[in-house]
Amino acid sequence: MRVTLFGASGLLGQELVNAVKLRGLELNALTSKDADLRDHPRVNRLIRDSQPDCIILSAAFTDVDGCESNRDLAMAVNCEGAVNVAKAARTTGSRLMLLSTDYVFDGTKSSPYEIGDARNPINVYGESKARAEEQLLHLVPDACIVRTSWLFGHGGNCFPATILKLAATRPEISIVNDQRGSPTFTRDLASTLVQLCEKGAGGIVHATNSGNCTWYEFATEIVRTSGLPAEVKPVTTAEFPRPARRPPYSVLSPASLDAYGIHMPKWQDALGRYLRHDAPAAKSIPNL
Ligand SMILES: NC(=O)c1ccc[n+]([C@@H]2O[C@H](COP(=O)([O-])OP(=O)(O)OC[C@H]3O[C@@H](n4cnc5c(N)ncnc54)[C@H](OP(=O)(O)O)[C@@H]3O)[C@@H](O)[C@H]2O)c1
Repeated sequence: MRVTLFGASGLLGQELVNAVKLRGLELNALTSKDADLRDHPRVNRLIRDSQPDCIILSAAFTDVDGCESNRDLAMAVNCEGAVNVAKAARTTGSRLMLLSTDYVFDGTKSSPYEIGDARNPINVYGESKARAEEQLLHLVPDACIVRTSWLFGHGGNCFPATILKLAATRPEISIVNDQRGSPTFTRDLASTLVQLCEKGAGGIVHATNSGNCTWYEFATEIVRTSGLPAEVKPVTTAEFPRPARRPPYSVLSPASLDAYGIHMPKWQDALGRYLRHDAPAAKSIPNL
């Protein structure tokens, strides 16, 4: 199977490169320097030349607060860019997988979001992804839209890396305790995505590590596991306003992934593996 990956330099993309190679699949790994998603002729040419069996679209403008002040850019990259890839995929008959987000939901539910629940994004990033989902499913009805959440992993900025840095230098850190979701290790997700490609998955799939927590609970587990002395203090979102609103609850139901016989590990297990294996500055952290 030949795979073309957009977003190969990203947090998830780097793990996808490893996962695709591990399965012995042929890979064409692209960054924004190879192809800007907004450049339709270039995207088209690259896909036509490589004739992939499967295209994984992990590339995106992912700065949630940045999207709020750069609406045009967010829509151009995340929505119109995805449409460019979908149109090219149609000409080569390649299967298409788009990475999407829990932020397509407004967070007003108190039980896990199912794939059929209505999209109602409350920030520009979520809106750009929701519009991309709709257009892709229209252009390529058998495309696979994989929604995930709260990514952490090696090779870039992520929540655990930030907490480790803060907890190593401050006696107390304040973290919001009124947003609930599912942290997801890029290594586990990459393996899941490759399996979905191999199974020829289509439609919407929710893929996260299992279980859920608030950011405060996530930070507490990071500090506890790493044995750092910092105290984690729960605060409210209202005390720490950000440019983009976040859904208060964005847990995604695993039912759609279960249907493919794929079960992702618990987030605490995933965090333990992330922290044990070459987490940034792990050598200087007491318990690691
Ligand atoms: N991070 C999360 O918590 C999270 C949660 C839910 C869903 N997702 C989704 O999961 C996917 C992967 O996220 P991530 O955190 O791995 O992203 P990331 O680390 O921010 O990486 C983004 C990737 O997109 C590429 N890119 C950005 N703008 C581009 C453009 N105009 N044209 C072509 N490529 C462009 C970047 O390439 P360069 O390095 O060359 O700039 C990079 O490879 C995204 O689709 C994101 O929306 C992420």
